[in-house]
Amino acid sequence: MTSPIELAPGCLWWQGWLSRDQQQALADDLRALLAEAPLFTPRMPRTGKPFSVRMSNCGPLGWVSDAAGYRYQPLHPETGRAWPPFPPVLLRAWGELAACPAPPEACLINWYGEGARMGLHQDRDEEEFGAPVLSLSLGDTAVFRIGGIKRTDPTRSIRLASGDALLLSGPSRLAFHGIDRILPGSSTLLKQPGRINLTLRRVHRADDAATGAL
Ligand code: SIN
Ligand code: MN
Repeated sequence: MTSPIELAPGCLWWQGWLSRDQQQALADDLRALLAEAPLFTPRMPRTGKPFSVRMSNCGPLGWVSDAAGYRYQPLHPETGRAWPPFPPVLLRAWGELAACPAPPEACLINWYGEGARMGLHQDRDEEEFGAPVLSLSLGDTAVFRIGGIKRTDPTRSIRLASGDALLLSGPSRLAFHGIDRILPGSSTLLKQPGRINLTLRRVHRADDAATGAL
């Protein structure tokens, strides 16, 4: 396995973790998955302003945002159907990179077309901050910005390319992060300019899952 670059304590970056063939296979899986769970346009709580990123999910839970707020839910907000299961390579990525014994419960699928971006934010809608967030990128390169756990902490930017994996864990689990811009045409993987980012998350505390099984 390629060894990761530690950008900050707990923030690990594996460049080219997925080979080109593995990226292609995952893109094919996602094409089928998105036919079942189509991309939707999330909206900001309260203001209702649309995100520039379109989203879907796979796994038992999915992250959604609309006028009622940010949350995880088991059903697609437009089709009302359960989210499709995780493609197996995502479970392999979690098993090899996340250092977390409990399985992921959600994978947010972000689609960035030309001009899409994502403002600096923390991932904090989960009950479990002990478990990491694991990201995989496909398609065009993104300028990814990462800071500290305070919004005002200094930030740096890196270029996340197709096949890269990035882990936010431990002291970096609540690091502010965002996407400044996409570099259109920087990858030939997808059939159109754009980028897919997948983030695997655990939502509930692992001991809740064990208790639920009793
Ligand atoms: C996210 O923070 O949900 C996505 C980050 C990315 O697109 O790399
Ligand atoms: Mn995030």
